Amino acid sequence: MTVKIGMVSEIQGDYMTFYINDETIEKVKDASDIVDIISEYVPLKKSGSNFVGLCPFHHEKTPSFTVSQTKEFFHCFGCGEGGDVITFIMKRENLSFYEAVKFLADKAGIPLEERKSIDNKYIEEKNKGYEINRVAARFFYSNLTKNKAALEYLYRRKISSRVIKQFGLGYALDNWSALYNYLKSKGYKDEEILKVGLIGKRSTGDGYYDIFRNRIIFPIIDIRGRVIGFGGRVLVDSMPKYLNSQETYIFSKGNNLYGLNLVSKLSDRKRIIIVEGYMDVISLFNHGINYAVASLGTALTEQQGKLLKRYGQNVYICYDTDKAGIKATLKAIEILRKLDIEPKIVILDGYKDPDDFLKENSIEDFESKLKSAYNHVDYKIFLYKNKYNVNETEGKIGFTKEIAKVIRGLKSPIEKDVYIDKISREMNISKEAIEKEVFGNNNRVFKQQNTVVRKNISPLKVSLPTANLRAEMDLLRLMIFNKEYHDKVMQELSLDDFENFECKEVLKIISDLYIEDEILDEDILFERAMDIPNLDMELIEKIIRKPINFLPETVEQMIKDLVTTLKTNRLEKERDRIKEKIEEMEKIQNKDPLQEKEFLQLCVELTNLNKELNLIRHEEGR
Ligand code: UTP
Ligand code: MN
Repeated sequence: MTVKIGMVSEIQGDYMTFYINDETIEKVKDASDIVDIISEYVPLKKSGSNFVGLCPFHHEKTPSFTVSQTKEFFHCFGCGEGGDVITFIMKRENLSFYEAVKFLADKAGIPLEERKSIDNKYIEEKNKGYEINRVAARFFYSNLTKNKAALEYLYRRKISSRVIKQFGLGYALDNWSALYNYLKSKGYKDEEILKVGLIGKRSTGDGYYDIFRNRIIFPIIDIRGRVIGFGGRVLVDSMPKYLNSQETYIFSKGNNLYGLNLVSKLSDRKRIIIVEGYMDVISLFNHGINYAVASLGTALTEQQGKLLKRYGQNVYICYDTDKAGIKATLKAIEILRKLDIEPKIVILDGYKDPDDFLKENSIEDFESKLKSAYNHVDYKIFLYKNKYNVNETEGKIGFTKEIAKVIRGLKSPIEKDVYIDKISREMNISKEAIEKEVFGNNNRVFKQQNTVVRKNISPLKVSLPTANLRAEMDLLRLMIFNKEYHDKVMQELSLDDFENFECKEVLKIISDLYIEDEILDEDILFERAMDIPNLDMELIEKIIRKPINFLPETVEQMIKDLVTTLKTNRLEKERDRIKEKIEEMEKIQNKDPLQEKEFLQLCVELTNLNKELNLIRHEEGR
């Protein structure tokens, strides 16, 4: 594999391309001892064959961050981050894969083959774009310093000259070609200026005009300090209030966040706030909050969600309080939760947005709003309480039904329980009624399916595994211990008999490994599990590493019992499912022949299942 890469050389501010192929990657990895490299960021202590330390990717007090020198990888049991030395540098230094390789190569003194050829053309074109934008931003800034009306506008909005400089704010003159003429005088070509979206073609066909006129200018700067686009606000109340650069070959709105350049430099990354507007970010910075970004006038994208995750351990949503803002908040919650982020929602009741709030309140007031920010369920409760009149019966029902839907979507059974309890008390409705609403009629099955506690809901983490999960885990441990036990179990059970997602995946790996070898290496098992996305590694760790006590004399009986537990559980579930179907079909008054047939079929199945279950119970009793 040969990949060409565009590399930023920070010192010179210019661009070079390098060849990186498998061989170079290997060389770089060989030269970069993972323990040495990570030690520069995290103090590590030897522990057994590994090294441990406090995880740099999440906040923790006891070390769960593990580095294996021999296996050349790291893994955090707290947050699930893991990978090799290149991954570590990518995450820690916020670099792309290729940049991380270059970073490590430089460190190890490995020269990379430089490449200057036609392939550089695209990179040169991009550099030209950034350069034009930078020159334009300087021009706007210098206009601002000379324009009384524009300065007064900003001062009226309490923006200090320090913040003006920090954000590189500017002013576009009230003129159709001031910027165009300026850029031409600097030697830039029409097409080049057109391509970054600063000018437009006149409809008459000859000549160009400035896009931004008589507006306060907000340069949009990426984390590498490159100006990628602009926003412009009118000084008076005319339309449109904000004008933004169109998407260009160097500006993609969905991949960037306004203010991230400063956040990446200044924030301690404990928190990050996503707001709607340029002015909200600036106001917050003005008040000393260096961890706010705006989503550039578009709905939050997944890419932006990932950026938020990278630059803040806790993500706060603080959109406008109007209808559009609420809609955007709900959308953002959805996107963030998909990325395993539990956002907190800041409610600034009575104010339009953070900027508006800070006009009348102190920054301490804002901080306390952050402290009392809602999780997504409480936020929805808050919204629905406003929507329904819960003092009236009808409103109460409507409210409870909507919230039941929200509770149904929660992954943690404990969380579900807590909210069912809360709503029951607040609405004065019985817990059972709400449970029915949440789980449907056969709530027992529903609850069981959801027993594995998700690791990202930390305050409610402690939950005992159900008897069934314990049985699955015990069986797996026995199977890891010895191939003979594995074979014995697999004579009785199939993959489908295992219910828990993690257990299923571990079983698959175990069976694979036994095909390869008689003796199973737990580390290899663990590594393979690490390659599977979305696994709860904490649970995997428990399954694989926890010792199991058994006597060889009794192990046979133990396996039998565990197998029975799993079988019974599966059959009971199957039975509940069929029962439910039967109940549904019983409601149909005049069944057509086909339905009649299906109904009978179900009854037969039910009888058979019951027989089978009785048989197992009978054997068990013997
Ligand atoms: P708002 O209308 O809420 O503006 O738009 P604001 O941030 O409160 O601005 P001020 O306080 O009146 O100066 C929020 C964001 O939506 C985008 C901008 O990114 C703006 O910051 N927007 C708004 C546009 O792109 N175009 C518009 O015409 C209006
Ligand atoms: Mn505003």
